[in-house]
Amino acid sequence: MEKEVLFERMCRTVREAGDLIRTCTSAGACRTKEGTANFVTKYDSMVQEFLIQRLSALVPEAVFVGEEDGYSEGKIGKGDTFIIDPIDGTTNFICGFPVCGISVGLSRQGRMEIGVVYNPFREEMFAAGRGTGAFLNGRKLVLRDCALGESVLCMDTAPYTPELRDGIFEELRRLSYLCMDMRSIGSAALSICYVACGRAAAYISPKLCVWDYAAASLILTEAGGVITGKNGEELNLATRAAVLAGSPKAHAEILESGT
Ligand code: IPD
Ligand code: CA
Ligand code: CA
Repeated sequence: MEKEVLFERMCRTVREAGDLIRTCTSAGACRTKEGTANFVTKYDSMVQEFLIQRLSALVPEAVFVGEEDGYSEGKIGKGDTFIIDPIDGTTNFICGFPVCGISVGLSRQGRMEIGVVYNPFREEMFAAGRGTGAFLNGRKLVLRDCALGESVLCMDTAPYTPELRDGIFEELRRLSYLCMDMRSIGSAALSICYVACGRAAAYISPKLCVWDYAAASLILTEAGGVITGKNGEELNLATRAAVLAGSPKAHAEILESGT
């Protein structure tokens, strides 16, 4: 299938998955998984299952890495791999805080080829293809290279790993003096997309999984932003990593501020 057609079909599939979330009136019963306050709802599994079914019809030879139901053990292969977070922002979803992203990335030869992140509550579709740009609801994103002091810094605190919290709060205390203010919207994928569309200068997290950042990373770099590990190292779709994303200026400022 041609890349352009696949891109359109992936966007359509993710939008349809969004209907499953938007029409739900309550998250219902939850079960816990590893870490602290890390919950799974029936919608996390349902959306992932829906996506796997539809996406395997688009690319039958693809393998899947997904957050739920055993797919987190999957490996990103040399061929086509779909990397899925069915609901990025499950805590928001449970609390009725209307900020969640469905995140679907396609990697080929171990690098991102297509990325789609959709917030069904705002009907905002962020999408990018390698070499063809990033878009928000079809409008091309061109990142303005703003400094930290001209905007907000989005952040996450590794909510399921409390032992990392003191370190990140210390870092955030230092960074708070360099930005206009800080925001935590509860979805790593959307936070990175918010940098891509200019709503934030940068984003920082002490620990993300590949499904949290894979799709959004392509959206950001195609818009003109930068995403690396915490110390500026390449991410290479690492399974788990501390992540720093930003406009080129803000990203450099944060790296320099730590030295
Ligand atoms: C979480 C969200 C949150 C981030 C966590 C992620 P989930 O994903 O992206 O913003 O701080 O590290 O695990 O569990 O809601 O898919
Ligand atoms: Ca996630
Ligand atoms: Ca999730």
